[in-house]
Amino acid sequence: MKKLYLGCLIILGLQLFQIDKNNPVFESEKEFKATKEVLQILEKSCYDCHSFKTKYPFYSYIFPISSFLKSHIDEGREELNFSIWEDYTEEKKKSKLEDIVEEIQSDEMPIFSYRLIHWNSKIKSEELEIIKNFVKNHP
Ligand code: HEC
Repeated sequence: MKKLYLGCLIILGLQLFQIDKNNPVFESEKEFKATKEVLQILEKSCYDCHSFKTKYPFYSYIFPISSFLKSHIDEGREELNFSIWEDYTEEKKKSKLEDIVEEIQSDEMPIFSYRLIHWNSKIKSEELEIIKNFVKNHP
């Protein structure tokens, strides 16, 4: 009984550790520019981890889910960040655009655990076509 009580206390105590949920400030000129259609798709399915426009859900307040989330966001932004797109070299932009198509096509992105919760985030084939077209016609 004592152990159970102690366990509960520890779990409650851990809730005091909150992740930083402030989105860094960024310059709008540096944001990724695309057609409205493309932006809508990426914002819905990718921006939570690949931009400084993360929307934090209620469970991001719950430890240890919060740390799990935080690590995805940090790693995701490191790999690809639509909010600082203009800081990338032309070469890097090109390769990232190709990676985006590849990751969606191979069903790697959005990350599976994210899709479980954000059921609407899976990229539909029509949406993939829109993105592919944009990438193809991108200078
Ligand atoms: C839940 C967070 C999350 C979401 C949502 C998400 N990603 Fe990612 N993404 C990551 C993480 C973490 C990594 C780095 C680790 C990895 O590659 O698995 C990553 C890596 C990437 C990479 C680099 C892969 C490489 O190895 O070059 C690309 C490109 C990418 N994501 C595209 C997307 C696209 C496009 C979407 C939306 C359709 C998306 N991601 C949605 C978390 C996410």
